[in-house]
Amino acid sequence: MQEETLRSVVVLGSTGSIGTQALDVVAANPGGFKVAGLAAGGGRVDLLARQAAAFGVEAVAVADAAAVPALKEALAAHGAKPTVLGGPEGVAEVAAWQCDMVLNGITGALGLTSTLVALEAGRTLALANKESLIIGGPLVKRLAKPGQILPVDSEHSAVQQCLWASGPDGYDPDSVKQLVITASGGPFRGMKREEMADVTPEMALAHPTWSMGPVITINSATLVNKGLEVIEAHLLFDLGFDRIEVVVHPQSIIHSMVEYVDGSTVAQASPPDMRLPIALALSHPRRVPGAARAIDWTKAHTWTFEPLDDVAFPSVALARHVGGEGGTAPAVYNAANEACLDAFMRGELPFLAIVDTVAKVVEEHQVTPAGSVEEVLAADAWARARAIELSR
Ligand SMILES: NC(=O)c1ccc[n+]([C@@H]2O[C@H](COP(=O)([O-])OP(=O)(O)OC[C@H]3O[C@@H](n4cnc5c(N)ncnc54)[C@H](OP(=O)(O)O)[C@@H]3O)[C@@H](O)[C@H]2O)c1
Repeated sequence: MQEETLRSVVVLGSTGSIGTQALDVVAANPGGFKVAGLAAGGGRVDLLARQAAAFGVEAVAVADAAAVPALKEALAAHGAKPTVLGGPEGVAEVAAWQCDMVLNGITGALGLTSTLVALEAGRTLALANKESLIIGGPLVKRLAKPGQILPVDSEHSAVQQCLWASGPDGYDPDSVKQLVITASGGPFRGMKREEMADVTPEMALAHPTWSMGPVITINSATLVNKGLEVIEAHLLFDLGFDRIEVVVHPQSIIHSMVEYVDGSTVAQASPPDMRLPIALALSHPRRVPGAARAIDWTKAHTWTFEPLDDVAFPSVALARHVGGEGGTAPAVYNAANEACLDAFMRGELPFLAIVDTVAKVVEEHQVTPAGSVEEVLAADAWARARAIELSR
């Protein structure tokens, strides 16, 4: 990339899987980007301090205010002197920091405030934290101007790229028949429900094609992640749930497709590597040369597609249901799942009980419109508490 395109970026969740890969993209393109600020939870202060020193950032925040002294010590050891902020307010301050782009790579519902703050500050938002869009749907959509949110999720980046083929005048929703979101199927693809009764966290964390943070990896094993992505696609591309299909594609090369009304299907293909969608979001609308390895067309490849087994994996149908209900329903689905996932990781809940419990919490919930952050957070808190009660 050329010097004149230098973009300043704030990376939230910089110590995680998405955050570290985003910084890889920046490091590989010093003439394209500079890093203005970083934020993380506070669990890995030495890594955060090293990142701050390497990129010469202006501000660093940790959500856990108790981690600030250790962060300051680590920054001093690495010779970095940025502004240091602590607590959720500190993370919010970095989310609103003066820059061109904010990448939200925080995991889970905790990312909502940062998404809202970055949008309110007028920043372009490269969105990996799908949960914030899903749970804050109406709030996020009200704030976001057209084009202000750029998807980082590989499937939605793929859809976006396929939609660029919509026609010479740009995206024409009437020419789109349906979106086809691909799913690797996770580590338990092909298993019947009863065969997953004794799944352990170690087994669920062994994803066949992607290396990701623990939450999204377990969500890929239950296919809750695919359910969240269906809602994300509905919100990003304004298409009804009846026009969003899911297909299992174990090789994770086709990242999603758009089927047009004339029978043509456009697919985006690349080896599984998040640096490609991250780079594309950060440099939009330009492409970053060499962002990721391309497919080797001199070798033979076999790509397969199979329908999703909704009996073994009911999470996607449940997501369609909550997405269709709207309001606080998606926040309840996500929060109940996050609570159940924690219980599963602690060995307190069987694998199959994750989605079963989420379904019970969703069924009990009285949906309200999600008109304010307080309303969303109240639904989120209720769902977590109810999921924990039902898990005992
Ligand atoms: N990983 C992927 O390949 C991938 C692909 C598509 C979409 N996504 C989405 O991207 C998001 C991040 O996933 P990930 O896999 O990168 O997660 P991850 O590896 O667990 O990283 C999470 C990051 O968030 C930070 N964090 C935690 N709580 C925070 C808070 N309250 N405020 C600020 N930062 C906080 C963590 O900091 P500490 O290190 O201090 O804990 C860490 O830097 C998720 O929404 C996921 O669904 C990920």
